[in-house]
Amino acid sequence: MLTYEQYQQSAAYIRQASGGFEPEILLVLGSGLGFLAEEIGEPIVIPYGQIPHFQTSTAPDHAGRFVLGTLAGRRVIAMQGRLHLYEGYTAQQVSYPVRVAKLLGAETMVVTNASGAINTGYQVGDLMLITDHIRLFDPDPLIGPNLPEFGPRFCDMTYAYTPALQQVAREEAAALGMTLREGVYFYFTGPQFETPAEIRAARVLGGDVAGMSTVPEVICASHCGMAVLGFSLVTNMAAGVTGEKLDGVDVVQTANRSGKGFSALVRACLPRL
Ligand code: HPA
Repeated sequence: MLTYEQYQQSAAYIRQASGGFEPEILLVLGSGLGFLAEEIGEPIVIPYGQIPHFQTSTAPDHAGRFVLGTLAGRRVIAMQGRLHLYEGYTAQQVSYPVRVAKLLGAETMVVTNASGAINTGYQVGDLMLITDHIRLFDPDPLIGPNLPEFGPRFCDMTYAYTPALQQVAREEAAALGMTLREGVYFYFTGPQFETPAEIRAARVLGGDVAGMSTVPEVICASHCGMAVLGFSLVTNMAAGVTGEKLDGVDVVQTANRSGKGFSALVRACLPRL
């Protein structure tokens, strides 16, 4: 059980190490999308391992550090690499940085991930605005004693993905001439990819993409009253959709190919968040 004091100690360390930097926006950068942190001006870099009570990223292409600075005129704290349940962390540990960012002053979270398309109308390389998620069976970060300093015991998830921010993303994608899909993110813990039967079930239940991250962070952001904007990059068709095996999925390569459009869209949205 992580205590409120631990969150405060982590925030105090970052505040001190960054010379009192007060972020407005938390950027959670998923697999292959960490390069956006390289575009941050006058960056202050803090590896997770230096911060009290923090865990470090072990997933490939997850650098495991905060980058604080200015992007598109906004003060951001970017997570270059995140934590996943499949690394052996609890849902609370995975979402720990979200609450720390909130204590530092961030009121908005932009969260990104790589995913497999359940929706057969999608293609590899598509970018999807996350309008909602489904987490049916996997561990929930709010289980355990509630920390009322962050939010209520029973928190509302009706507008977890903030409608006004979704509208900003739609408008900015249109202005850039980009196609932006919209859909529901279905959460699996991994690390194995799903079975075709699991993907068929997820489709029946309303999922458009499948992924192994994001949901714990969004639940905690919602709980502590942060606005959320989520994007998912389709790096492969999910299991059974094409009949191809998924052992050749190169999330990082696909993300790098589609990265330019993705970073242009996030930068265009930032001033309006
Ligand atoms: N399933 C789950 N997570 C993923 C996938 C997938 O097919 N592709 C990238 N992340």
